[in-house]
Amino acid sequence: MKIRIDFSNMIGEAVGGIPEAEWLEQAPKFAQAYDGFEKLRAGGSVGFIDIANDDILRDQAVEFAEQARGKYDDVVILGIGGSALGPIALRTALRPSAWNMLSTEARGGFPRLQVLDNVDPETIAALLDRLDLARTLFVVTSKSGGTAETMSQYMIVDDRVTKAGLSPADHFVFVTDPAQGALRPLARQRKIPALDIPANVGGRFSVLTPVGTLPAALIGIDLSQLLAGAAQMADKCATPELNRNPAGIFAMLQWLADTRHGKSICVLMPYSDPLRDLADWFVQLWAESLGKHTPDGAGSVGSTPLPALGATDQHSQVQLFMEGPKNKTVNFISVEKRAADVTIPRSFSDVKELGYLGGHSLGELIDVEQRATAGALAKRGRPNLTIQIERVDARHVGGLMMLFEIATAYAGQLYGVDAFNQPGVELGKQFAYALLGRPGADEAKKEWDSLPKPDSRWSV
Ligand code: PA5
Repeated sequence: MKIRIDFSNMIGEAVGGIPEAEWLEQAPKFAQAYDGFEKLRAGGSVGFIDIANDDILRDQAVEFAEQARGKYDDVVILGIGGSALGPIALRTALRPSAWNMLSTEARGGFPRLQVLDNVDPETIAALLDRLDLARTLFVVTSKSGGTAETMSQYMIVDDRVTKAGLSPADHFVFVTDPAQGALRPLARQRKIPALDIPANVGGRFSVLTPVGTLPAALIGIDLSQLLAGAAQMADKCATPELNRNPAGIFAMLQWLADTRHGKSICVLMPYSDPLRDLADWFVQLWAESLGKHTPDGAGSVGSTPLPALGATDQHSQVQLFMEGPKNKTVNFISVEKRAADVTIPRSFSDVKELGYLGGHSLGELIDVEQRATAGALAKRGRPNLTIQIERVDARHVGGLMMLFEIATAYAGQLYGVDAFNQPGVELGKQFAYALLGRPGADEAKKEWDSLPKPDSRWSV
């Protein structure tokens, strides 16, 4: 596995980055963050690193996928947030482009993978109309086993499956906490297979548990490579020495850039279509983990993650990155060897705008565009870094995901927040419960009723 971070464009005033002297002083600060995180791991409350070596957990996914082989044309994930974004990122990165549009033969007999990551009725109604339920497996994924969106999806689909005279045990599998939540007892009652999300791994850190590994195995992704890449990255990051720890370097750069240099937006911009959904997965990881009140409640911290795609966004957001407020770091992902390449023919040699392109490949073009954009940003005093990966395969994607997860955990330590909770989403949930009449939501109902009512002067 080859994953390198080139952060020359993050250091020094000339590129608008962190002064070299300031960077060189950070080793003790990082060692402290590293120790803080290692204490959480040792205490057993944080387990996302250790799952990369958990063969029992991996085998749950592999064995289920093996016995499901050939039975289904569609696998549909019912889930949201951390239960959905990881599987989407894995499918886009590690299966051929437009996987769900390919014929069964082109998919090697593996099923399509649909992810219902929302409760928009238009999407769900359309999908349910298209599916042949007798040939569909629904993967109900919820760590808490109680998320309103996922439970609603489940209730709707369960009703359809039952009314179609199908056995729930053949058309559902649950992925949930080993003990907590509503799905465990339901699994027992209805004899539905259930796979584990370890108690100490939360939603957005769970892609390498059956949350991601089960769908991945069902569509033929090589789990041993995915997990080996993650484990290799975890080993690489097992050092408190900042300059040898890639996740430490990423976290420290973003934290310094945000808290001391006003770079409060962290752009992740892969130059690779297969990695475009990995940027969305990163956005949730970074935002929900780090956007927090400080422990004393007095302040608010967190840098805002922003997804972008190269070269597409050179014709969109890059104008803002180049000349807009100097409040961003741009973090590129570049790919050395692509699964396919296409050569531009040597035609139109007499047309100035076309002729120079002939003979170059698209792989060369996209790579040159990334390097040119990085250089242009640096030249204009806009700090940026490039994560270079050798190829987009299961090993490198496992490595990248682990890199970002560990970096997020370190950043939590640097910001002084708990990267593993999400108290900020609670009030909105409570209000929704109150509005839907969930028992026990009386306090939230009172609070809701006390809010100022919409004022007709302020709506048009
Ligand atoms: O990262 C998180 O913890 C959240 O985004 C959850 O993934 C999301 O809220 C879904 O929760 P659950 O898996 O409990 O249904």
